[in-house]
Parts: sequence; C-alpha cells; structure tokens
Amino acid sequence: MSRTFRIAPSILSANFAKLGQEVTDVIASGADIIHFDVMDNHYVPNLTIGPLVCESLRPVTDAIIDVHLMVKPVDRIIPDFAKAGANIITFHPEASEHIDRSLALIRDSGCKAGLVFNPATPLNYLDHVMDKLDMILLMSVNPGFGGQKFIPETLNKIRAVRERIDASGRDIWLEVDGGVKTDNIAEVARAGADVFVAGSAVFGAGRDSDAHHYDSIVAALRAELAKVA
Ligand code: DX5
Ligand code: ZN
Repeated sequence: MSRTFRIAPSILSANFAKLGQEVTDVIASGADIIHFDVMDNHYVPNLTIGPLVCESLRPVTDAIIDVHLMVKPVDRIIPDFAKAGANIITFHPEASEHIDRSLALIRDSGCKAGLVFNPATPLNYLDHVMDKLDMILLMSVNPGFGGQKFIPETLNKIRAVRERIDASGRDIWLEVDGGVKTDNIAEVARAGADVFVAGSAVFGAGRDSDAHHYDSIVAALRAELAKVA
C-alpha cells in the first residue's frame, strides 16, 4: 500500500504583500496544506502573524490550515485560532503549563491537535498523550526563522517517532519542518514522515511563467516523493 504524502508550504517565506494570492497559487500548483507559522518574539526571537491573518485567509482557500504555534503561553490564543478557521493547531509542549489541557482545548474547539518537538526536545512528552494526538511535528531546524539548514541528526528522531506512531495503531500524521528541499525530501519520507513543510524551497523558487506560479517546484517535490511511495 502506498503512503499518502502531503506537501505543506510555509507561508512564512511567501510575499506578505499579497498573501491571499500566494495561498491560492501554491494550492493551485498542487500543494495540500497551508503551514501557518505563529511567532511571538518571546518563545522564539521573531514576530509573525496571528488569528486575524488566519481569518482573512480562510475564505481564500478550502485547504487545511495547519497552525504551528511558537508562542508562550499557548492556551489563551487557541480559541482565537479555532474561531479564525484553523484546522490543525500544534504547540511546543515546553511552552504549555498543562499539555493535556492545551490538547483538550484544541480538540474541544473542533480542531485537530498536535505537539511540536525541537531538535533537542525529548520525546518523552509523548508518553501519556498519544491517544490525544492527530499530528506530531518534528522540527528539523531550531524554530524562529525560515531558510535554515536541515539538521541531519533529526532523521533518527523521525524514525523513532514513526515507530511510536506505528506501535500506537493510531492515524497520527508525522510532519517534518525546517530545511526540507528537493534534495532531502525523499530521505525524510524514508525515515517516516508523511507531511512535509517547505517554506523557502517553495516560495523562494523562481516563479513559473504560467498561471500557477509554483507548479515546477511542487511537481519536483512530488517526483522525489514518488520514488519512496
Ligand atoms: C521555522 C518554521 C518553519 C519554516 C520552514 O521556525 O516553523 O515552518 O518556515 O522554512 P524552511 O522550509 O525555509 O526551512
Ligand atoms: Zn513551522
């Protein structure tokens, strides 16, 4: 059985002056999910976008909006993103006072829930919450900025999480975020990922001349994944 792979461009690297068009273009080019990076200049040293931008983008696309919270504290902002139309909300466990409560808050607001692990965050945060997860997001760079280099040591962590998901028997998506490009996406897939965030690789790619600006890069990423499936 072939695995389902999903490509999730991070709009962190999009042109914010025309964000709606960027979202429309990248989905028309065959991407599956919009990865929405929320940074608070506290948990990470950068400041990005909040629920108002999510609300503005919601009518622009039917695609899944995958909100990656790099904020501390996390609970206060969760209902706002749910109301703004987020489909998936993930947070970093060390940024939450009560992980179980934050997960419940996300699920009770009708969204899918996930935990995010930095390269050095231990996986034992998973021990007691596997049954409440729809997604596990593994960072393959330290969070805060697009355009960083993939940290190869995270491949072993991807394998370890894949084993835990398979052992759980649950349908938990394994998303990898940071430095994913055409030259490493197949390796990341082989290690066990099934959702691939790509920011600079997609939005930094030269624009195609036809109507769908990102056709070439999305097709190139899919061609690499087809070698694995
Ligand atoms: C980093 C963000 C990533 C980032 C990925 O903190 O969580 O989603 O935008 O960008 P690239 O693909 O350029 O590494
Ligand atoms: Zn992200």
